Amino acid sequence: MAVTDDIKARVDIVDVVSQYVPELKKSGRNFTARCPFHQERTPSFVVFPERQSWRCFGACAIGGDVFSFVMKADNVPFPQAMRSLAERAGVTVPERRRSDAPRNPIYDVNEAALRFFRDALTADRGAMARSYAERRQLGEQAIVTFGIGYAPSGGDELLKSLGALGFAEELLLAAGVVTRVQSGQVRDMLRGRLVFTLRNADGDVVGFAGRSLDGTDPKYINTPQSPVFDKGRMLYGFDRAKSAIARDGVAVVVEGYTDVIAAHEHGYENVVASMGTALTGEQIALLGTHAQHIVLTLDADAAGQAAMLRSLWAVAESVGGGTDWARERSRDLSRWGVVTLRDGKDPDEIIRADPGRWRSLVAEAVPFPDFLLDAEATRGGLTADESNAATVQRFWRLIAGLWDWAAQDRLVERLADRLGVGRPTLEAAMGRMSSRVQPGRRFARGREAPQGAVESVLRTVGREPVEEHALALALQFPEILARVGEAAGDRFARPENRAILSALQEAGTIEGASAQLDGPMAEHLGQLSTRALPPADSKQRAAEWTECLRRLEERYLRELKEQESVALTEDTSGDAEYREAVSRQALETNERLKDLFTGETVKP
Ligand code: UTP
Ligand code: MN
Repeated sequence: MAVTDDIKARVDIVDVVSQYVPELKKSGRNFTARCPFHQERTPSFVVFPERQSWRCFGACAIGGDVFSFVMKADNVPFPQAMRSLAERAGVTVPERRRSDAPRNPIYDVNEAALRFFRDALTADRGAMARSYAERRQLGEQAIVTFGIGYAPSGGDELLKSLGALGFAEELLLAAGVVTRVQSGQVRDMLRGRLVFTLRNADGDVVGFAGRSLDGTDPKYINTPQSPVFDKGRMLYGFDRAKSAIARDGVAVVVEGYTDVIAAHEHGYENVVASMGTALTGEQIALLGTHAQHIVLTLDADAAGQAAMLRSLWAVAESVGGGTDWARERSRDLSRWGVVTLRDGKDPDEIIRADPGRWRSLVAEAVPFPDFLLDAEATRGGLTADESNAATVQRFWRLIAGLWDWAAQDRLVERLADRLGVGRPTLEAAMGRMSSRVQPGRRFARGREAPQGAVESVLRTVGREPVEEHALALALQFPEILARVGEAAGDRFARPENRAILSALQEAGTIEGASAQLDGPMAEHLGQLSTRALPPADSKQRAAEWTECLRRLEERYLRELKEQESVALTEDTSGDAEYREAVSRQALETNERLKDLFTGETVKP
């Protein structure tokens, strides 16, 4: 859906509007004119070049972006406005997407290698590996489903076997199942080890990990990164866990391969492993597509350590950056939990010793922000001391990113408490908006927010997850479709989404709406109607719908506020009536924001 972005990048709203309103003239940073949409004597129509938006502060009291201006001025529906702007910008509106690339032959190598490792485990030479697997209580079933095998110790048996199947050496090297050693010889990557198969989210084999059977170091050797394998982008067991994660909305992250297998063997199918490193942003995003709650498990002895804190912060700060609603939402760390494992036992041992214990451990998870708060406090990073300012700022940003407003409130309290200062003092120090309007809510855009927070909290990467989620709900559930009238088109920032909403409102059915749309918009509608949504019952869906509208409303009102303040500060007209109109609307916007935070419902 890059067309409208392309257009927006290439046309300037001032140029477009001046074609319709020749008298438009510069006033401070903005441009003003008499409103083209209603009769007036003095100008109350403002174009904001920096925001690429427009607004009438007079009788019609409307506004929007370049698309909505053309729609209104030409009195045409969105597709037509888009086409005329596209023409102006020299942007072509694409018809279809290109098809997927052909499958990488490395997958075939890996499949063949997996067969080889499996066969080796059942063969005579696999006896030692088999007895090791037995000692670790790896069941028959798990050996098959997780692809456990044996890499013989000879050194080039895999190479020979795959070579005989016709795979070129270069391809085997690219797959990483063999490696060129110093002498120039090519040898099997894994030798004399128990093999764990690594699969991507779709279940394709991307690589292997080999565990030492006799205590030699390193304990695990992985096949290297390859065009199909990037360990920072995958989670061990995710292919088998994703449906359980989607069903329950909960994912549990452990450290080891054997931990995942033990959990799955005992019916805990929502467990995945992080591949031996701290969770990466990509891994989090992957989880976020299916999970609303993510539980991390930590070693008790590691829990208080500086390295662990660093990696928890890294997790906290790489959360989000959503390209869809679920990911966007998964950034809400108040829905994450942390479990500390005592007695130096791995999940593997805990589960095999007492499967029921796992359930209660996970249920006792401490909310992530609280865990971090306590851990930082224990470390001494949360006293009201100058040297801790950076940590406090970090918390502030973390709290600002939470979706759950009640959790935000609670954490602001807790942070103030930990610091031993009153909440108002903390809020003032952090330069927040007035607490009446903004009780623990997201930062507004503007100077007052701590630096860095605005971008990290409010940025969405060219997509509009909240809008898209609202539309997907309407497209997939009749009871939500019946409520599309509650949404107001100008709360949707993306023109495509606005167009789909208005088509739905007009037609009342998906078929009808689809018929009204063409090209990329119809395709976008198709994608939204088939997008996989997190599981929810009808009550939860209704709540999600309301929450989406509320977020869009909040953003919309903040934008209005911003326009109002710019309109006032840049005003050079000396027109008292105009200033009065803008101030009145600014007051009203404040009231509406307040209502939004105190009331339960959204009034479009
Ligand atoms: P652990 O040392 O906890 O191993 O490493 P484990 O998974 O519990 O294995 P067992 O139970 O002793 O057999 C946790 C994870 O860290 C990565 C692996 O992904 C491992 O599962 N790791 C560990 C490596 O990649 N290389 C190593 O040498 C050690
Ligand atoms: Mn272990």
